[in-house]
Amino acid sequence: MNALTLFLPCAAGVEGFLATEVERITGVPEADLRTSRGGVEVAGSWRDAMKLNLHSRLAQRVLVRLAQQPYRDEDGIYAAAHDVAWEIWFTPRQTIKVEITAQHSPLKSLNFAALRVKDAICDRLRDKRGERPSVDTARPDVRVFAHLTVDQCTVYIDTSGEPLFKRGWREDKGDAPLKETLAAAMVAATGWTGMDDQGQPVPLYDPCCGSGTVLIEAAQMALNIAPGAQRRFGFEKLMPYQAHVWQVLKQEAHAAERKTAASKPFIFGSDVAFRMVDFARRNAERAGVSHAIELRGGDALQRMPPSTAPGVMLLNPPYGERIAAAGVAGQRADSRADTRSGPRGRETAQHSDGSENNDFFAQLASHWKKHYPGWSAWLLTPDLKLPSKMRFKESRRVPLWNGPIECRLFRFDLMAGSARRNAPPHNTATEPSGPT
Ligand SMILES: C[S@@+](CC[C@H](N)C(=O)[O-])C[C@H]1O[C@@H](n2cnc3c(N)ncnc32)[C@H](O)[C@@H]1O
Repeated sequence: MNALTLFLPCAAGVEGFLATEVERITGVPEADLRTSRGGVEVAGSWRDAMKLNLHSRLAQRVLVRLAQQPYRDEDGIYAAAHDVAWEIWFTPRQTIKVEITAQHSPLKSLNFAALRVKDAICDRLRDKRGERPSVDTARPDVRVFAHLTVDQCTVYIDTSGEPLFKRGWREDKGDAPLKETLAAAMVAATGWTGMDDQGQPVPLYDPCCGSGTVLIEAAQMALNIAPGAQRRFGFEKLMPYQAHVWQVLKQEAHAAERKTAASKPFIFGSDVAFRMVDFARRNAERAGVSHAIELRGGDALQRMPPSTAPGVMLLNPPYGERIAAAGVAGQRADSRADTRSGPRGRETAQHSDGSENNDFFAQLASHWKKHYPGWSAWLLTPDLKLPSKMRFKESRRVPLWNGPIECRLFRFDLMAGSARRNAPPHNTATEPSGPT
């Protein structure tokens, strides 16, 4: 019975991909889902809630909607939260945390509104069970979310616990790792599934792989490994939880895993920092996909294609002050900086005019034109001028948010044939690189 209303929040830009994923996991047709900015709503069962937690790569959490009603002030919010039968979800012995978000709410203090929700929960449980729960903001047993619009208050109980991007395999982080959910959205945006229509593997390569997030998400998809197979969930502490149902879901997921997707790896990663390659290797081992990924050290400006068949490159390249391009471009920029300002102790350089990064992208573009004909390259970047810096014309641009940073995932189709023939006159601003 689909008695619950489930809401799955996601990063802006990901809603459409998430709707497709929810249909695949629950069987509910996309036409019956409600997709809004920032999430997807689906009517589902408690079993669906567990399945979505186990299998969704794109959702931030799975919430159960418990109340939605108009409000004018904090008393209205208290009333909405007090009407919820919290006593069927958890006991007063368990700790709680209330989080509140708002869009155009007229209320002055969201903290005070959150306090009123907490009071309503505590009062209700004291009336029904004779005791009130305590608050634990660090490691609560139960998380409650309230969302306020200009006149509607919606109250949810969370079933995920830790946010879903925490898959349980990442211990080694790079300097700017992607969230796993965003890496999965990047893979979804490319349409890469591992195999082509003839069942042949399609190579996927991240030449700036850092701690390996894109590669690991892609490999788990190719091997059909559930993203939540290695972690615990908030629903395990809620009263409707039935351990035997959960065990069956996990066993089904495990049985559906593929040991190998092809006779040899077709997912490749490299990074100029050997420390990162090491991190990626250890993360891949913990994620159960090390046999499916080939990792190397090396400069993206020098690495040759890892496979004879062309495939998909997918990366979030170095950007901005925190991560500057290293390797050949970085060294050149460093030596120029050295002649201007004396010796510097940094491994990588970044100039206030961003010139080092520009050098990197110009060189990357000519390296790819020369050596990667037939590949499509997808780059996630907040730099909307990246195509013109590379003198490429994108064939797709997908808006995605990296936390608070608005980005684009640009697709460039690298033309088959001689680089020289395709090269633009030196001073052209953009180069059409039409579909191969
Ligand atoms: C934004 S991070 C990528 C993060 C990665 N997606 C992850 O989730 O960990 C950019 C990466 O590019 C690498 N890098 C910088 N310059 C490079 C170059 N010339 N060749 C290859 N990798 C480079 C950095 O070492 C860093 O790991």
